[in-house]
Amino acid sequence: MRKETLFEQVFNLSLTPTLVMENDGSVLFVNDALVHLFRLSKEEIKQRNVLIHKELFQIQEEEIEPVRSEEETFVLLKKQSRPYPAHIHIQLLKQNSEFNEPLLLIQWQEYSSNIEKQEEVIRKMKQYKQFVQQSQDAFIVTQHGIIQYMNPAAIQLLGGNKKDEYIGRSFLQFIHPDHFDTVHERMRKIMSGISVRPRAEVQLLTKRGIVTIESSVTKIKFKGNDAIQYIIRDVTDRKKYDEMASKSEKLTMVSKLAAGVAHEIRNPMTAIKGFIQLLKASKEYNEEYHDIMLEELNRVESIIQEFLTLAKPKKETMFEVKSLQKILRHVTLLLATHASYKDCQIVSLLESEDIPVSCEENALKQVFINIIQNGLESMTRGTITVKLEKRGEYGVVTIEDEGSGIDEATLARIGEPFFSTKSSGTGLGLMISYQIIEQHSGHISFSSKLGVGTKVEIAIPYVQEPVNV
Ligand SMILES: Nc1ncnc2c1ncn2[C@@H]1O[C@H](COP(=O)(O)OP(=O)(O)OP(=O)(O)O)[C@@H](O)[C@H]1O
Ligand SMILES: [Mg+2]
Repeated sequence: MRKETLFEQVFNLSLTPTLVMENDGSVLFVNDALVHLFRLSKEEIKQRNVLIHKELFQIQEEEIEPVRSEEETFVLLKKQSRPYPAHIHIQLLKQNSEFNEPLLLIQWQEYSSNIEKQEEVIRKMKQYKQFVQQSQDAFIVTQHGIIQYMNPAAIQLLGGNKKDEYIGRSFLQFIHPDHFDTVHERMRKIMSGISVRPRAEVQLLTKRGIVTIESSVTKIKFKGNDAIQYIIRDVTDRKKYDEMASKSEKLTMVSKLAAGVAHEIRNPMTAIKGFIQLLKASKEYNEEYHDIMLEELNRVESIIQEFLTLAKPKKETMFEVKSLQKILRHVTLLLATHASYKDCQIVSLLESEDIPVSCEENALKQVFINIIQNGLESMTRGTITVKLEKRGEYGVVTIEDEGSGIDEATLARIGEPFFSTKSSGTGLGLMISYQIIEQHSGHISFSSKLGVGTKVEIAIPYVQEPVNV
């Protein structure tokens, strides 16, 4: 008698009922666990063709098909002699020197006595699979950063034709170098069970060029091991639209500010001119006059500087740690004369302790300017109070006006693109502000009383300073 090889022994001793079949369904090997399950002899089982002998196996051709193209699948098997559904797992065995044809390995997985529940699970699994296959969103599964699975939408997203082009490659190689660290860090956090923000915006390098995506990421089990599932949406077009809206809003803001800035500069200029005339008349050096003139010139310089940096088109979004106090001081400096021109004043109550936030400075300034502008536009005279305080993990800026207030119908529509009740309004100010604050992981809330005024709160998480040991 031929001696069993080690693998034959292991195969026979395995507790998982297992069968190896050829492409056409003829049974090649059967192990003892399977014999035990079917209560037939090995020879009897081998005489039946898996694809033809429906009374025993009931596996459909179409269920085997995806396996042949190297996808793994779960099928529901009904054994007629003692009818119960079983959950079986079919895998392709790669080319083997002994056999020319590819072989399929079928393993019977645990089946619960609760048949209905089992059927339900398998049905849901199939539905999910179908859903993923047909989804417009791209699904990618990675293990240790290597792509293990992708659906047709994911192949399309990366600009390819077949998934073979991508399976087995590192997912990170498709990430734009600027976002590499963020994505890598998110992967690490997820694998160690730390929750991450549900959506992150990153750029991918694809055959179609640079694509901006939003993704949600979860830790899942894939083929029994920990894996990461990315659900990805292409937001390139939406980004373009947002950028256009953002640009046009910025232009409006800058042109509105220009009048105020011109005014702001004219006043100190008048003062300086006056002092120069005085100096000329007296022909004497006067230190006090010089100091005042220098102070005024410095002020003019900083206003022009502020205006220019704000008006400059941004090259790229750069998040830096900046002081909220400083940002608010700059904004109020820019708007002070504009306010007084309208018989209004801006009062700042800023917490003395520094509140650092990770931000794109100009974008935050734009938000505060938009909101203070709205306040100014709602008043004929009065005060706008700007307050800054720490609340929990947030730096909270409160901007309160004494204007007309907002009725409920308007309040519900605030932030909608192009919604404005003003004849010259573009209705983009608050939409952009909401977007910017969302990018800073913060939030904005409005409370208003008709005829009394409006209070806007902007909360932004502040940077916890490292503890000095
Ligand atoms: N502080 C406020 N007091 C009263 N109404 C306000 C206030 N802030 C916003 N609103 C209302 O919300 C609407 C939308 O504001 P938003 O800033 O988005 O656009 P806008 O000010 O009309 O135009 P712009 O694009 O020039 O800012 C305003 O038209 C106004 O009706
Ligand atoms: Mg506005």
